[in-house]
Amino acid sequence: MKRIGIMTTGGDCSGLNTVIGRLAWGAMRRGYTVIGILDGTDGLYATPPRVIEFTPDTLPIENMRFAGSFLHNGHAGALNFETAAEKGQIAAFNRKIRKSIKSLDLDALVLIGGNGSISLAWCNREIYSDVQLICIPKTIDMDIPTTDRTIGFDTAVQQLTTYCDQLMLTARSHHRWFVVQSMGRDCGNLALYSGIAVGAAAILIPEIKFDINQLVAHIQNAPNDYGIIIVSEGISLRGHSGRPADMISRKLTAAGIANRTAYPEHTQRAGDTVACDRILATRMADCALNAIDNNETYVMTVLECNDVHTVPLSVFYDSGEIVRDPNIRDVQTSNAYVAPDNPLLSIATDMGIYIGQTK
Ligand code: F6P
Repeated sequence: MKRIGIMTTGGDCSGLNTVIGRLAWGAMRRGYTVIGILDGTDGLYATPPRVIEFTPDTLPIENMRFAGSFLHNGHAGALNFETAAEKGQIAAFNRKIRKSIKSLDLDALVLIGGNGSISLAWCNREIYSDVQLICIPKTIDMDIPTTDRTIGFDTAVQQLTTYCDQLMLTARSHHRWFVVQSMGRDCGNLALYSGIAVGAAAILIPEIKFDINQLVAHIQNAPNDYGIIIVSEGISLRGHSGRPADMISRKLTAAGIANRTAYPEHTQRAGDTVACDRILATRMADCALNAIDNNETYVMTVLECNDVHTVPLSVFYDSGEIVRDPNIRDVQTSNAYVAPDNPLLSIATDMGIYIGQTK
């Protein structure tokens, strides 16, 4: 019978506990031993590695709908792939992690991570030579190539939508606008989907150029004197510095438009996991367990045209845009962005939402 390890790495998001729970439950039903690795690679770097063993009695099922990861995602400042690469210690770090995995006597390791963690796993793949490596994509940014959805995205869209819905009411009372800054790094998916859900007056995302004068004119000519403008954290405004929402807010104020900024920040990564994410987590957990049974390795579970299956990590990596870390020579990640033909872009324009220069 196989012995499998589970770990969560990178930033957390809602849905991690559902995947962990479903993986552990499904694996135990197959007669496997299930080990949870605490704190991702931090836990593996420790001597002895920090782990727990799941049993039907210890599986905290009540946590499966809550945000965060009950295996934790790692300590700030700990040695990990990025910090080890930065310090020129990547070879020693990799050797230690490989040795730890071997010491746990695992047959398979399920890594639940974002595009950074999965790219790093592929680029440092010799670490996982002694186990089957199965990755499951999670992130609120939805910037992972080859999958149509990532675990955590739908809950984050719901969180941001609820946040904006509430601001909309106070906005109306005071005849003013809220410039809400979304997370998402350099990918605009979270801002785009939430903006559509909210009925924002404008959505600014890094993938699409916008003209600040057009935005101001759009707000001045809007049928309402209140509403929501969603600004993705990855946008920039030539000649200006500071936080994107502040930059846009200052321009609106200068044009006489009453407004406030709002920063939902990490609440976008929190919130009880919505049903769509729980279903996706369950499908991906089942797919990962099937991949283990089929002796697959170096694969990632993906949702493609409503089918969940695995793709080789090489396909994941080569399908995205490879972005090199500007500061760390050895670190590069494969990223996905809002595609120019995403139908939500033209729908937004049809609905009178200012989105910038889409044509
Ligand atoms: O990648 C997920 C994410 O939440 C991004 O959207 C955001 O820019 C970043 O992580 C925030 O990271 P931290 O938790 O380190 O502040």
